[in-house]
Amino acid sequence: MGTMQQWLTDQADVRTRRGTVRNTTARTITGRNSATSDSAARATLLDLASNDYLGLSTDLRLKTAAIDAIGRYGTGARASRVVTGTQPVHAELEEELCGLTGQTAALAFSSGYAANLGILTALGGPGTLIVRDEHCHASLIDGARLSRSPIEVFAHGDLAALDRLLAGRSQPRAAVVVESVYSVLGDASDLTETARICAKHDALLVVDEAHGIGVAGGGRGAVHAAGLAGAEHVVLTATLSKALGAQGGAVLGPPALRAHLVNTARSFIFDTGLAPAAAAAAAEACRIIAADPSLAQAVLGNAAVIAQVCGIEQAAGAVQSVPVGRSEDAVQLAVRLEDAGVLVGCFRPPSVPDGISRLRLTARADLAQEQVRQAAGLVAGMVAAVAPGKVAAR
Ligand SMILES: Cc1ncc(COP(=O)(O)O)c(C=O)c1O
Repeated sequence: MGTMQQWLTDQADVRTRRGTVRNTTARTITGRNSATSDSAARATLLDLASNDYLGLSTDLRLKTAAIDAIGRYGTGARASRVVTGTQPVHAELEEELCGLTGQTAALAFSSGYAANLGILTALGGPGTLIVRDEHCHASLIDGARLSRSPIEVFAHGDLAALDRLLAGRSQPRAAVVVESVYSVLGDASDLTETARICAKHDALLVVDEAHGIGVAGGGRGAVHAAGLAGAEHVVLTATLSKALGAQGGAVLGPPALRAHLVNTARSFIFDTGLAPAAAAAAAEACRIIAADPSLAQAVLGNAAVIAQVCGIEQAAGAVQSVPVGRSEDAVQLAVRLEDAGVLVGCFRPPSVPDGISRLRLTARADLAQEQVRQAAGLVAGMVAAVAPGKVAAR
């Protein structure tokens, strides 16, 4: 066996020993809007693991918008946005994103990951200090690293530490990076205070709203809810693949930022434009969310049920995180829950910021509260049996 092949085998053994093996198993899920007639004979599962918080990925209005866009523009964007890949549907999406979030300009990327790489590499460099919360998503960590900026990391939510780091900086510019609602633990940033500290130190605040848009602030996001939409020193990034039910990402902020990204963000320039179907579906989702704040309320109502039944403090958004402890236990619980018909996320190192493996349950607007209550009861009962004291089953 070659050296590389031997190394791959050794790495696989390590993952097996540590209980951190990931897989890409296809599953048929169910929800109010889901097609459950998958030809695979597998029973359908109640999905409390995805990020389809509003159930829009299977909504007929989004499907119709996507199909119309394919009819009009074809299945692919065919080129980079800065060559011939920009189509009217991209402009429509960017306008709807601005309408939803209250921002003045938007730039759509092919994913949220690419949007985060794009903004941080375009703003970064030796003259820009990047200061980020320690719980930031991998795409923000990678973007900061790729930017070649000096990087400082502050303890999760420690705004006094952020204040000190900004006060002590030697670089002319600084960008502070946080998530409005964190992806694994589901807790929220104090955006008002973070923005105040940024303003005091003439720093730009970059807020990743991946888990905020569609859920916080009646669906318009946490930045909007904090009254910071359009603030000169606050910009945001978004994914179109969670509450918006489509695929893709975006950066939102002032027109000068958009122009800078179009000209310098490598993950925008050297990437084929977002597929027209995804852009059209996301634009339709923006219109639906803007017109119907009850969707966001429904997610939070179901999140409250999960938290109450699992005996945990309710986290700010759709994500509710049930600590288990050992990764083997978390994996085993997730498998047993799937066998019982409930799909939950299983987060283990290195995807858990505090090293505690957990089940991650996401609330969805398109599930009845009773359905959620029963599923959460199953989770609570199983977790209590494996990790007594972690949850108080009700
Ligand atoms: C906080 C956060 N930012 C960015 C992303 C990346 O978004 P996308 O899946 O659209 O690449 C995700 C999710 O995957 C996320 O949770």
